[in-house]
Amino acid sequence: MRMIDIIEKKRDKHPLTQEELGFFIEGYTAGRIPDYQVSSLLMAIYLNGMTDEEAAFLTKAILDSGETLDLSAIEGIKVDKHSTGGVGDKTTLVLAPLVASAGVKFAKLSGRGLGHTGGTIDKLESFPGFNVSLTNDAFVAQVNQINVAVAGQTAKLAPADKLLYALRDVTGTVPSIPLIASSIMSKKLASGADVIVLDVKIGQGAFMKTIEEARALSRLMVSIGESFGRKVTAFITNMDEPLGFAVGNKLEVLEAMQTLQGQGPKDLTDLCVELGSYLVYHAGLSASLKEARDQLLENIQSLKAYDLFKTMIEAQQGTIPKRETFVQAEHVVAVKAERDGYVEKIDALAIGLAAMKLGAGRATKDDVIDHNVGVVLNKKVGDVVGEQEPLAFVYANKDDIGEILRDIQTAFSLSADAVPKATLIEEVIEH
Ligand code: URA
Repeated sequence: MRMIDIIEKKRDKHPLTQEELGFFIEGYTAGRIPDYQVSSLLMAIYLNGMTDEEAAFLTKAILDSGETLDLSAIEGIKVDKHSTGGVGDKTTLVLAPLVASAGVKFAKLSGRGLGHTGGTIDKLESFPGFNVSLTNDAFVAQVNQINVAVAGQTAKLAPADKLLYALRDVTGTVPSIPLIASSIMSKKLASGADVIVLDVKIGQGAFMKTIEEARALSRLMVSIGESFGRKVTAFITNMDEPLGFAVGNKLEVLEAMQTLQGQGPKDLTDLCVELGSYLVYHAGLSASLKEARDQLLENIQSLKAYDLFKTMIEAQQGTIPKRETFVQAEHVVAVKAERDGYVEKIDALAIGLAAMKLGAGRATKDDVIDHNVGVVLNKKVGDVVGEQEPLAFVYANKDDIGEILRDIQTAFSLSADAVPKATLIEEVIEH
């Protein structure tokens, strides 16, 4: 087999076989196929697309490039969740202990944040001592013992994805639906769960800008998952404003803890209960989605889910500081409205970038983050706001933040007319 024949075949719009996609991924990972040939094939895929079957073959080839997590020693059905990345997206922190409190085995590997979206592992490292590097045995033992573990993703899972993503990033081939779907699903499948929920974000702060693109990506990921015998549900959710109020590591952790105590923002609570109800139901632990939802709401009210969150942090050697001393920011500055009105839009991307510039996120993967800084919104879409009322509060550990404050100010669009609340869950896609 020759790489040039595979490139020409895709260029001429013919579907590739499992053997051809396997040859390409195996050869590239082993260093036998050069970047320039892979770049050319990626562009042909970007331009000509892939059938569902080809995308499943590509996923399998990427999955086979590395190790898979063996969760067979965990009793019962294992569940996992993935988000395509949003601003203020602390869903995993709430969802993991929430579904685990209903008896579901939640076994998740998470990543660090890059750019304007945060990563769950960075957020969990807000707890002093928290251990994200669990061995396979420790991970499995913890899930068997307390139903939940969230650990850092190792480089051994789907290594071809890392290589491909770096090349896509510099060759204009990131926004290809089959390439995104195979990238995400190879990692999810390598992590071993039987039941998976996918949170596909749309809007300014997200990869997918339109509902049509999000629908196509969701359908393909569900189809790939099903072809591997996994139960996959995709939720298309809005990222036209940040999720909840808090953006920044410790600030988000605090909000997640409040949510687990029944005092969280409505959008975050609704999303976690909804995603969670599908996990509980598809894991076979409730007779209906409604029963699952009721159970999760009860576990929030009774603090059962919050207690399990604390147990998880302690099981992974984290300590939970007192709430009053948790966030250590030198400055807390209000960004105030310049006129009366209703909040029409909050540019999630701009808020995410502002938090990153404060030090909450990384511009490059070697940047060190400050867990204490970020932005807490005081108003959400649909809220009424008076002149000089705070739109948001900025938590900063540096003095020179004038430009960041202005960026946050302009991220808010105000309207003279009443504005409806934003819809959070646009669609649910299953097989
Ligand atoms: N997230 C991924 O993991 N891969 C992509 O290609 C895009 C988003």
